[in-house]
Amino acid sequence: MATSTAEPTRRDMLYIATGAATAVATGAAIWPFIAQMNPDASTLALSSTELDIGAIPEGQIVTVKWRGKPVFVRHRTKKEIEEAENVQLSQLPDPQADSARVKKPEWLVVIGICTHLGCIPLGHQGAYDGWFCPCHGSVYDTSGRIRQGPAPRNLDVPDYAFLTDTKIKIG
Ligand code: FES
Repeated sequence: MATSTAEPTRRDMLYIATGAATAVATGAAIWPFIAQMNPDASTLALSSTELDIGAIPEGQIVTVKWRGKPVFVRHRTKKEIEEAENVQLSQLPDPQADSARVKKPEWLVVIGICTHLGCIPLGHQGAYDGWFCPCHGSVYDTSGRIRQGPAPRNLDVPDYAFLTDTKIKIG
């Protein structure tokens, strides 16, 4: 699994999908052939992504690439969880309880694409310390719900499952 820090000033990291790395390592010889002859096969190989979340410290967001899209995996702090839970649904443009968006309160997993026009929002920014989309100013909270700006919907939650306490599978 390769990692890199996209912007040193931010705490977010980019993880290359474990699934993709495995697929390349075990199928390197045939990979170009498959990719060339059957693009669907390469897409299929990335249809799910496993991520070891045990190394993600509280308060950090990791960005994983899944099916060509960024997915934000956020290890929420107690404060962030409380802020996400203690919101009157009537205040939300797209009302959804935090409990309906997470499987475990400490972990928020959302697709990192602004529901306005598809930019990638920036973590730990905006009035609710969730995400801020610099394209047209949409502001999301620590549950990834839209709070201000033109985005019509909350950040989408992908299909995912906890394989163990420290490992999730997206897709
Ligand atoms: S694309 Fe995010 S606010 Fe427009």
